[in-house]
Amino acid sequence: MSTTPPVTAPTRFSEERSEEVVAASFAATPDDRLRRILIALVRHLHAFTKEVELTQGELDAAIDFLTRTGQKCDDVRQEFVLLSDVLGLSMLVDSIGNRTTEAATESTVLGPFHMVESPPRELGDTIALAPGGEPTLVTGQVLSTDGAELADEKGYYDVQNPETVPERNLRGLFTCDEHGRFAFRTILPAPYPIPDDGPVGELLAATGRHPYRPAHIHFIAGAAGHAPLTTHIFVAGSPYLDSDAVFGVKDSLVVDFPTVADPTLPESHALPPTFRHAHVEIRLRSA
Ligand code: BEZ
Ligand code: FE
Repeated sequence: MSTTPPVTAPTRFSEERSEEVVAASFAATPDDRLRRILIALVRHLHAFTKEVELTQGELDAAIDFLTRTGQKCDDVRQEFVLLSDVLGLSMLVDSIGNRTTEAATESTVLGPFHMVESPPRELGDTIALAPGGEPTLVTGQVLSTDGAELADEKGYYDVQNPETVPERNLRGLFTCDEHGRFAFRTILPAPYPIPDDGPVGELLAATGRHPYRPAHIHFIAGAAGHAPLTTHIFVAGSPYLDSDAVFGVKDSLVVDFPTVADPTLPESHALPPTFRHAHVEIRLRSA
């Protein structure tokens, strides 16, 4: 029997040195950003695993969960976006990416139902193609953070306003007038659950969380020379404002939708004598 002590290669895996050894395997990653991300991921993943003393059965369950999350995805269903949303990861990345000291309208999560092919509509048009719901007028103006109008050199302004419901009819692409103003008719939004018939729903159920989002309308606004903004307005007084399943609510985005009878408002001739009205000023930060 040899008396020479075994030589432990510096790259040999052990419980104690797991982070160090695995992180070292990524040390030669040529891309600086990728290397930084992978090494930090390994550090946190290993620390997490040690903190909870993850079992083999729990790792198998996690892999099964992620496998089923992927299998649930198709052209119209994005279960991984949902998972990121209910873990608050989407909102955290959004917050980091949209830090600003300018007095811009705050951003929030896009969600998995945005349709890039929103149909172009005329200002004042309705986006509610199905019967039912409380008639609602949304008016607003897109401005710079200093309140200035946003005309480009041709005097054109763009506002995208996709609003998605299961029937996929409540969406539209609007071009603002020369002052950045827009108006469209719709129905009063209601709170609704995120899809909860997949692995993310299982996660919510297993943890005693509800799947609801407060009533809201999605907006994507853009103008030349300004950073595009993805946001919502939330209906003041809606249930779930304090427990949005995807953490998207910001106080500055909660808007009153009073019942009004105002024949001077845009397109009021196309609305009943009383209707709900929300007015929203969208301030875009410079690009
Ligand atoms: C939505 O409001 O469309 C939404 C956002 C995040 C997850 C699911 C739905
Ligand atoms: Fe939504």
